Amino acid sequence: MDFSGKYTAFKREELMQEVQMHMSERRFQHVLGVEEMAVALAAKYGASKEKASIAALTHDYAKERPDEEFELIIKRDGYDQDLLNYGNAIWHGLVGASMVQRELGIEDEEILEAIRLHTTGAAKMSLLDKIIYVADYIEIGRNFPGVKEARKVALVDLDEAVAYETKHTLLHLIEQEQKIYPKTIETYNYWVVGKAEQSV
Ligand SMILES: [Fe+2]
Ligand SMILES: [Fe+2]
Repeated sequence: MDFSGKYTAFKREELMQEVQMHMSERRFQHVLGVEEMAVALAAKYGASKEKASIAALTHDYAKERPDEEFELIIKRDGYDQDLLNYGNAIWHGLVGASMVQRELGIEDEEILEAIRLHTTGAAKMSLLDKIIYVADYIEIGRNFPGVKEARKVALVDLDEAVAYETKHTLLHLIEQEQKIYPKTIETYNYWVVGKAEQSV
């Protein structure tokens, strides 16, 4: 895909290189898988394929940064200090978006928001937010029980796919006795419980 120059000065190949330099080969392959899926979902659901590609390529840009770097930014840039009680899983999206903005010069708010929300989701999600959230979960390299079902759902109903992913992510976190970021609960209440209530 050729980029228009509206959202990033990089050509697609250049942006790929910038991203690749900041992560392991394994993670880079994941990023390419997310991009492919995100562009397919954008085509299916009528979102900008270019924005889907850029958001997907950059969504894990900050994933391999040291904790200290995130902690510094959280303390310095006016983030909710409660964030310090969480870790990379939450930080790399929520705070990582600001690294994408600053270091890669991507200013488009819709792209940055999709990066911010890609692990936690939110009650209020744009089409692009949903596409990145879901593509990250079901890209071709993912292999976990339920991924086939998640892919099937994503091809039929994107909102259903958001609900499916949210429920199963939460179940997994609880199973592992991991801390739940409050926004994930909000996502669950809205997309899993809220949607079910609307349909009865
Ligand atoms: Fe991520
Ligand atoms: Fe990812």
